[in-house]
Amino acid sequence: MSETQTVTPGAAGTAGKNTGASILLDNVTKQYPGQAKPAVGGLTLEIPPGSIVMFVGPSGCGKTTTLKMINRLIEPTEGSIVLNGEDVTTMDGDKLRRRIGYVIQAGGLFPHMTVAANIGIVPKMLGWSKAEIAARVDELLELVSLDPALYRDRYPRELSGGQQQRVGVARALAADPPVLLMDEPFGAVDPITRQRLQDELLNIQSELNKTIVCVTHDFDEAVKLGDWIAVFDEGAQLVQYDSPERILANPANEFVENFIGSGAGLKQLTLTRVNEVELETALTAAPGDLASDVMSRLQGAGAQQAVVLDSRRRPIQWLTRRQLSRLERVSSTVDSKLPVIGDRATLNDALDTMLVSSAGAALVTGPRDVFLGLITVETVMQAITDAHEAALEGASAAPVGINSGLIERAHQYDDGGEGSVPEPATSAGGRE
Ligand SMILES: Nc1ncnc2c1ncn2[C@@H]1O[C@H](COP(=O)(O)OP(=O)(O)OP(=O)(O)O)[C@@H](O)[C@H]1O
Ligand SMILES: [Mg+2]
Repeated sequence: MSETQTVTPGAAGTAGKNTGASILLDNVTKQYPGQAKPAVGGLTLEIPPGSIVMFVGPSGCGKTTTLKMINRLIEPTEGSIVLNGEDVTTMDGDKLRRRIGYVIQAGGLFPHMTVAANIGIVPKMLGWSKAEIAARVDELLELVSLDPALYRDRYPRELSGGQQQRVGVARALAADPPVLLMDEPFGAVDPITRQRLQDELLNIQSELNKTIVCVTHDFDEAVKLGDWIAVFDEGAQLVQYDSPERILANPANEFVENFIGSGAGLKQLTLTRVNEVELETALTAAPGDLASDVMSRLQGAGAQQAVVLDSRRRPIQWLTRRQLSRLERVSSTVDSKLPVIGDRATLNDALDTMLVSSAGAALVTGPRDVFLGLITVETVMQAITDAHEAALEGASAAPVGINSGLIERAHQYDDGGEGSVPEPATSAGGRE
């Protein structure tokens, strides 16, 4: 197998019939007993079906409380939760939670159960047969890029942090729920693993189209993953709810500006994904090919390097003419230092990968790590030039989000023009 064309992966065969449900938090309040003020005050928030909504805000502002009210792990004191038009505020909580996947930091796996048993929990509760569960487990492990044969019988302690996180995502997806809730899912892993997990989530989402609500401390992560970002202040006061593009280009006030941090311009780079730019084709080769054949094809194409793909079309080597000249045949060795980037990654990540490898280009892969083509520094530069305007033009109207009782105050900000941070109504302070 050797050709000069790029490939597009076929539709993945994952059972994803349940695409995202709409979620409405309707004037929801959570007052913890003995607390001076509500953790969540009169929040109305529309979460469009099939979208990823990111919650950001300072520690203790009510993000987790808001998230857990959606699957009623925390019961709202007032207001209602509406899923796909159905009021689920009083339905059986356990039943509700089977329809909503939930991922927490470090995966939250049961340590005494194998990977397969962890993933199969909900299907088992739903009465699936053993064969159905086993098939689903393998399918999901493939989806999160873990080889089922290697990982299904391991215990969580035998996995790295990032692998546990993947299993956590697989478990949340097991019964194909229309909604996925994630609470700082990638908080505990190193930056590179985090980037991979983010890309994987976006890949999975492009296949499954769930409604995903995800809490993060990291504004860059919110920009990268979110279709919409909800910026909260204390008491889950919604300060801004809009597309990443518009929040970056037009933060509602100083509080949001501070949250975005420096380099708003550079963050725009994170708004364009690799799959939005045109990739360059590469000459490819397969293990076993005669080096002299590959060399003459390189010469014919005027190219300097050939990408070696394995039988599943995953890149394993990137050979220069010089390297080829020393070989008789292309080997099946896997080069662990290849500059590979997922097509869902941002241009920022792509640049990073190129800079680290000093290759001036990176190998782009799609779902299941299939090779798609090359991205170069020039492509990124060109894309930056166009990104800002294009992003703003493409943004559609934001979903509804407001706190009751705060509507008047919100207008005061508009008029005040001071860009001041909203102060909570009560005198009890203590933002962390
Ligand atoms: N069970 C509880 N009883 C009383 N107060 C609580 C309880 N759980 C949370 N709180 C309080 O409610 C507020 C919101 O908490 P929450 O966990 O939702 O914040 P968060 O935005 O997720 O914070 P972090 O970013 O630190 O995770 C905090 O002031 C917290 O102390
Ligand atoms: Mg929290």
